[in-house]
Amino acid sequence: MIRKARSIALGTAVAALALPAAAADDGAGKSYTPPRPPGDFTPPPDSAIPDGPMGDMIRRGRELFMHTQKLSGDYVGNGMNCVNCHLDRGRKASSAPLWAAFGMFPAYRGKNDHVNTMIERIQGCFRYSMDGTPPPADSKPMVALLSYHFWLAKGAPVGVALPGRGFPAIDKPDKPYSVARGKTVYERECAICHGSDGGGRKAEGTWVFPPLWGSESYNFGAGMHRINTAAAFIKPNMPLGRPDLTTQEAWDVAAYINSKPRPQDPRFTGELAQTKKRFHDHMCLYGTEQHGRTLGAPDGE
Ligand code: HEC
Ligand code: HEC
Repeated sequence: MIRKARSIALGTAVAALALPAAAADDGAGKSYTPPRPPGDFTPPPDSAIPDGPMGDMIRRGRELFMHTQKLSGDYVGNGMNCVNCHLDRGRKASSAPLWAAFGMFPAYRGKNDHVNTMIERIQGCFRYSMDGTPPPADSKPMVALLSYHFWLAKGAPVGVALPGRGFPAIDKPDKPYSVARGKTVYERECAICHGSDGGGRKAEGTWVFPPLWGSESYNFGAGMHRINTAAAFIKPNMPLGRPDLTTQEAWDVAAYINSKPRPQDPRFTGELAQTKKRFHDHMCLYGTEQHGRTLGAPDGE
């Protein structure tokens, strides 16, 4: 259930415990442990982006990462930008920073049961988090985004889980999470920015606070739809600027926002129970009764 968060935490712990290169032995096979990562990694500043065609491509990628709505209609189907979940232009530790991701691919992902390249990982966020159609591997937007990921990881080790990768594993709550308690937390701490209807806010046609549920939000297939993943994001990052929720409150509010309707899982087979069984065997409320409706049921059912 907490598989992904746990594997990241484990990776970090293993990396932290690993002994220096002594373990590096050509004959060591599976027991090989990479050298210890060099402490906290700091990505290069934007001012160091080079001039010329490579620099132009990195800047283009940064622009698309922050203003992904520019790809709205082509590749993006909702109101989100990449930076909404990967804070501080993809730099913030504990907010799935790009510098910690780049050197960890290709990697096997249980989600699709094969080895994914970095490009396919990015395409995954387009399909689910952006509720869109992923840009092809060699399209300009993809090359630009990939270049930006590469740039932020400049100087980072390859194949080593750096501290700060992903969202940090969050402790289990004392009491089972509660949608009802989460509603109280939401109204007190979150509605002021994200709106009492969870729909986010726009100013002069541009999103200023991203939607948390509804048609403009991430879809049911997205990582953020997992209650544990959302709780792990919320605890160190929200409310924005003063993340001070208790562990229990983070779980409760994560359950509440994920008890609300959102775009269908693109893997929907046409049948809710089957889709739930096949793709939602994790901590989520898909296919359960919420607010008087079956969550994820197509309209009219
Ligand atoms: C709704 C929130 C959300 C949005 C929007 C979003 N992502 Fe993600 N992204 C996630 C989550 C959740 C994960 C999984 C983090 C984890 O494994 O702990 C993730 C993981 C990733 C990873 C892999 C991180 C790692 O360390 O393995 C990359 C790369 C990535 N996203 C890129 C993007 C790009 C590029 C965009 C925009 C096209 C984007 N994301 C938009 C939520 C989002
Ligand atoms: C001060 C305004 C503010 C408050 C209060 C706030 N947020 Fe956010 N939140 C933001 C902004 C802005 C972003 C996007 C950050 C970015 O793009 O850099 C965001 C992003 C998010 C995201 C990821 C993007 C998405 O739309 O899914 C989630 C989830 C989230 N907030 C949940 C919460 C929860 C839960 C609370 C209450 C505990 C909360 N926020 C309180 C401003 C706020």
